[in-house]
Amino acid sequence: MSDILEVRNNLPRINHLSRGLRKWETVWAVISIQGHPLTTHSYQVVKEGRSWFPSDEQQWESLEAGHLIAIILDSHRKNPLFYAPVENPKHILDIGTGRGSWAVSDTADLFPETIVRGVDLFPPPGDWFPPNCIMEVDDILQEWTWRDPFDLIHLRHMLGSFTPDEWDIVYKHCYDNLKPGSWIEHLEMDPRISCSDNSLPPNAYTPNFSERVLDAAENWNHPLDTVRTMRSGLEKAGFVDIHEKSYRCPIGPWARDATLKEAGRLHYHHWATGMEGWAMFILTKWGLPKPWTKEEVQVLVAKARKELKDPHLHMFQHTRRVWARKPTVEEMSGIHVKQEEDGIALIKREEVR
Ligand SMILES: C[S@@+](CC[C@H](N)C(=O)[O-])C[C@H]1O[C@@H](n2cnc3c(N)ncnc32)[C@H](O)[C@@H]1O
Repeated sequence: MSDILEVRNNLPRINHLSRGLRKWETVWAVISIQGHPLTTHSYQVVKEGRSWFPSDEQQWESLEAGHLIAIILDSHRKNPLFYAPVENPKHILDIGTGRGSWAVSDTADLFPETIVRGVDLFPPPGDWFPPNCIMEVDDILQEWTWRDPFDLIHLRHMLGSFTPDEWDIVYKHCYDNLKPGSWIEHLEMDPRISCSDNSLPPNAYTPNFSERVLDAAENWNHPLDTVRTMRSGLEKAGFVDIHEKSYRCPIGPWARDATLKEAGRLHYHHWATGMEGWAMFILTKWGLPKPWTKEEVQVLVAKARKELKDPHLHMFQHTRRVWARKPTVEEMSGIHVKQEEDGIALIKREEVR
């Protein structure tokens, strides 16, 4: 963790933002007793088998690296946390908040007047949160009971969390619980490994690792191609004014550009600390052609992890941020009138037939 903390401490823009975490010991104790350890990893228990992400120390480290990568890629911006043009937000929600870095350490500090909620299947580590930050343990697929509508809903690195039908439910919940005219923002990475200069041999282990995990996730009906489907998912839910920004995120410090080099250094940590946990649940339960043994997973992880250290291999991941708006009341009444007109036109056409 020391490397990652060092990066956080050296980031001028977010240095002042990090404050710490509030008490969670009671819930955490229950979780630890009930949590079912899978090799060295423990997974959440609100609904067993719901998430493929472990909730253990190693995964928190990986999540923090993932958070800092996103911040670094947009460190030229005054607000590197989101692009949605939200002004004076009162209520923000971070879905699948994980370690809570986006919600707790940064957004709640940047907007001290805003109530920032983070929700996840398991509580974040640590024992102190800023007073305007509320962490909740819940399954986002269940009925939402928050009373106040949100000004911004944020999702990041949620790939594989839901089936395609469940994604429709999540986006619908978001749409229904946002104020008219307010925003949703979603950032995802493509798990496929890219390389644009032929430095990666055809039999490389890391792309093989990704493909095996992608196949297993498909077998589980929790596809990992969210980076490709999130825009159409938002459109389907009724969001308008859709924007997007694409990034290439290097794995390892091989890029010449200083920002990408730093992001790549962290992205190596993101992978090195995360990959066994990502693969262990999914390959031992859903791996093809039959579920893998934990030793098989560990062997592939070890080979890929070694490869990730090679500075001659120029691997990167496509990353996409999409932000979209719920229509305003005026726009919604326009849509309604149009739907009614279309309905009348349809009835008339049917009457003529
Ligand atoms: C890879 S982590 C991402 C964490 C965080 N968004 C970030 O960017 O650092 C995905 C998170 O989604 C959570 N999650 C998955 N399904 C969920 C559900 N149905 N309800 C709430 N959280 C869920 C997992 O528990 C996990 O912490």
